[in-house]
Amino acid sequence: MKVLIAERISDAGLDELKKETDVEVRLGLKREKLLEIIKDFDALIVRSEIKVDSELMEAAPNLKVVGRAGNGIDNIDLKEATRRGIIVVNTPDSNAISAAEHTIGLIIAIARNIPQAAHAVKSQDFHRNKYKGVELYGKTLGIIGLGRIGSLVAKRMKAFEMEVIAYDPYISSEIFDEIGVKKAETLEDLLRNSDIITIHTPKTRETVGMIGEKELAITKKGVRIVNCARGGLINERALCEYLKSGHVAAAAIDVLEKEPSYEGDNTGFYNPLIELPNVVITPHLGASTVEAQNNVGITVAREVLSALKGQFTSNA
Ligand code: NAD
Ligand code: MLT
Repeated sequence: MKVLIAERISDAGLDELKKETDVEVRLGLKREKLLEIIKDFDALIVRSEIKVDSELMEAAPNLKVVGRAGNGIDNIDLKEATRRGIIVVNTPDSNAISAAEHTIGLIIAIARNIPQAAHAVKSQDFHRNKYKGVELYGKTLGIIGLGRIGSLVAKRMKAFEMEVIAYDPYISSEIFDEIGVKKAETLEDLLRNSDIITIHTPKTRETVGMIGEKELAITKKGVRIVNCARGGLINERALCEYLKSGHVAAAAIDVLEKEPSYEGDNTGFYNPLIELPNVVITPHLGASTVEAQNNVGITVAREVLSALKGQFTSNA
């Protein structure tokens, strides 16, 4: 069996695969090259950059399994994979803690202007008056999507003595009670009442652009917004305008509508959010910890091996 690793996974994951398959690691491949070589492989492992669409599957007559080394599967055409009998496996539990911790880092960063102030000091500017922040204590944190990551963020932010409310129409009231979070009955309810908003939904047809001009208009003046889930959930153009006017005091973004390559050439990469002083952007770092990547690598390797052998997979 031949496995193509087209995006980086941990050595621990590679070792698992190498015990039982013929592994080829080809990072930063141009699309044309990927389309050319994929025909030889039984399994393909990706993270979030490579689009596994009908064109790629058409070029891959031997493909039996796609392993998504991570959580979101919005870069994989599941319908097409199912039509072709290709099994898709992912590792949704392996990086949730890291993504939650990154979210919390971003919340604190924009409450206290830490990245901007640290950058200023490195440029020999030690003035602190520009960087006065706000406390989290007593403020309301609004979480959109109370799944794996949203609930981990909720539990941890209660330790800051924030009031935590969440909007998730697919989660039962018992779960809200268990986590100790107040249920927002509507998205509007959450938007009107939160000092800090963080979004943790998957990217689906329903959630793309769910925070746009209309939604930002009803947020509190001075609200702070975090997106460590998926680019496109918040409309970037509208967010830019609200950041420029100061209605949104600050935003922290780990994921962009259009992300440049993680391994390849990034020249020409531009996004208007980068220019705004009240925005902190990280390069899709939520899952980038030693622990998460170790877990993700091992889990995706095991899931792919199970699928190749026709055995039970937990995240297919
Ligand atoms: P999850 O499936 O466990 O939870 C998502 C929650 O969103 C669910 O409870 C669901 O009911 C809720 N939801 C769905 N549609 C909704 C809607 N319209 N309104 C409100 N709630 C809605 O997912 P997760 O594991 O917590 O992941 C959350 C997001 O984080 C995903 O987009 C995932 O791709 C992303 N992620 C990003 C990183 C990163 O590196 N930045 C790392 C891991 C995961
Ligand atoms: C995920 O969905 O798991 C994240 O986007 C992180 C990643 O792809 O590595």
